[in-house]
Amino acid sequence: MDRILITGALGQLGTEFIKHFKKLNVFVLATDIKLPKYKLQCEFEQADSLDKTRINELVKKHDINIIYHLVAILSASGEKDPFKSWKLNMNSFQNIAEISVENNIKKVFWPSSMAVFGTESKLDLVIQNPLMNPSTIYGITKLVGEKLMEYYFNRFRLDIRSLRYPGIVSVETAPGGGTTDYIIDMINAAKKGIDYTCFLDENTELPMMYIDDAINSAITLMAAKKSNLSILGSYNITGFSITPKKLLNEIKSNGFNLKVNYEPDFRQKIADSWPKKIDDSSSKKDWGWNPEFGLKETIIEALK
Ligand SMILES: NC(=O)c1ccc[n+]([C@@H]2O[C@H](COP(=O)([O-])OP(=O)(O)OC[C@H]3O[C@@H](n4cnc5c(N)ncnc54)[C@H](O)[C@@H]3O)[C@@H](O)[C@H]2O)c1
Repeated sequence: MDRILITGALGQLGTEFIKHFKKLNVFVLATDIKLPKYKLQCEFEQADSLDKTRINELVKKHDINIIYHLVAILSASGEKDPFKSWKLNMNSFQNIAEISVENNIKKVFWPSSMAVFGTESKLDLVIQNPLMNPSTIYGITKLVGEKLMEYYFNRFRLDIRSLRYPGIVSVETAPGGGTTDYIIDMINAAKKGIDYTCFLDENTELPMMYIDDAINSAITLMAAKKSNLSILGSYNITGFSITPKKLLNEIKSNGFNLKVNYEPDFRQKIADSWPKKIDDSSSKKDWGWNPEFGLKETIIEALK
């Protein structure tokens, strides 16, 4: 029986993983540094992922055998305090790796990001193994994490699985300070009937994915036979690519009358160093990745 620990469980992704596992009746211990604002559908313990002793105690107490490690400071927030971002992203990763080895954890899911790529990665369509020169502290921590995944597998047979998520579109939980947050902000402005000021230029193209696909892809990857996985690090994955201008047109074509101003800020530079499109053929081939939500389906769902 799977007994799952989720760290950073109250964030954009964690909230949705909890709902998913609840439907399957799987035991979940959700942990986060903050307290939930409502009653969760699973066990909860407040815990700082930097506190290795506490996380280790929780793993033992609840007989955990699978970990979803979701704690991170995301791209835009990370640039505000890069030292803090490095400490949290790397030290929490190290803690989870050590705890997993010590407790014979079967599998760990740890999301990477398209932020691992950079201007040298041929951004029009980024392949699985291009040159990588991440420009943000967030992207750097993700790339180091990917290398550590490979190292820990070769050294300890620790089975960490990972996806290089693009921007995730979800409406129920607010995004946590990434460079792709504009998509949700714009959709929410349309629903509220207020003007929106976009922090990216209208022609900035970035890959995105609907939250249901983000959850299902992780679950499918985690269920895959290890022998089918040809990549020890993180897999490329994508849903669709979109620009703010294209998003605005989609929103209008769904009957919303939205006015958008464009005032690019520091996030424009980050977006300019990220892929326009991503080649995820290795995911399709190795573990059967098959997105359900394209651009139109995602916008319709998000506007509901
Ligand atoms: N959301 C996206 O668009 C996206 C894209 C690519 C990759 N990812 C990755 O997916 C993972 C989850 O992202 P998310 O969007 O849910 O992030 P989020 O910012 O919404 O949630 C992170 C959670 O971690 C918690 N947290 C912060 N510091 C903590 C600490 N010291 N101890 C315990 N909990 C702490 C926060 O309270 C928050 O609830 C991250 O690794 C992120 O890099 C997300």
